[in-house]
Amino acid sequence: MLTMAIESYEKLLMDLKKLRLPAMVEMLDSYAKQASSSNMSYVDFLSGLVSEELRNKDRKGIESRIRSARFPVLKNLIDFDYGFQPSVNRKKLEELSSLRFIDNKENVLLLGPPGVGKTHIGIGLGVKACEAGYKVLFTTLNEMLSVMMSSLADSSFTSKCRTYIIPSLLIIDEVGYLPVSKEGSNFLFQVVAKRYETGSIILTSNKSFSDWGEVLGDSVVASAILDRLLHHSTVFNIKGESYRLREKKAELVREERKVG
Ligand SMILES: Nc1ncnc2c1ncn2[C@@H]1O[C@H](COP(=O)(O)OP(=O)(O)OP(=O)(O)O)[C@@H](O)[C@H]1O
Ligand SMILES: [Mg+2]
Repeated sequence: MLTMAIESYEKLLMDLKKLRLPAMVEMLDSYAKQASSSNMSYVDFLSGLVSEELRNKDRKGIESRIRSARFPVLKNLIDFDYGFQPSVNRKKLEELSSLRFIDNKENVLLLGPPGVGKTHIGIGLGVKACEAGYKVLFTTLNEMLSVMMSSLADSSFTSKCRTYIIPSLLIIDEVGYLPVSKEGSNFLFQVVAKRYETGSIILTSNKSFSDWGEVLGDSVVASAILDRLLHHSTVFNIKGESYRLREKKAELVREERKVG
């Protein structure tokens, strides 16, 4: 049986605090009680507390990576309803969930009309990557281009550019909804070219590739961007109804039933 004098207990508590081991501090009391009422060995006692600390560190790391990824909302792939969107190849998406595409510096391109789950899938893969320890950043194309544009004024362009180069996974959402200036498409080219074969991109767009010349206001730059993006990539061409409208329709039906 493992017992501990009050002074030793308090000294241990203080030392653990000094060493910044918060989970061990929090769990020491319950482990000490458990140890004194059972046949727990010294090794099991210490190993149990160390495991608590490691679990806590892992959880904190995941939370911090998810915060720095700046997802607009959190989505999980497990909540994706394949039945509603059969054009999404489940096998292909599950293969991507292994995150090998990040190690291989490959890209994922999600195309389709509004509400079909492009952002959901992008965020779902991003959250998985954060959980697995990768550095991730989520941005819309418009937001990224305005950050880069305004960085020209205060000469922070190089450092702002690095923000989009450093993460193992960069998610660029909503390519195609808003018009892009010539300068903007040059910025996008620089990001894509710098990440080519060095870091993964997940990109979502409501426009098919043939419309990208028009979206980016320059067909030469658009095809140079596409060439790099597509070289090592998985493409999802999602065709189907908007999930948002399905939810709205279901809500209306419920209201009609109540009135009726
Ligand atoms: N198959 C699905 N299963 C579960 N939820 C879904 C599915 N498809 C979409 N959703 C949900 O519907 C909403 C809209 O999806 P999402 O934002 O991913 O669409 P999108 O394709 O990015 O649309 P947009 O082009 O307008 O940005 C989100 O709340 C998302 O979680
Ligand atoms: Mg979206």
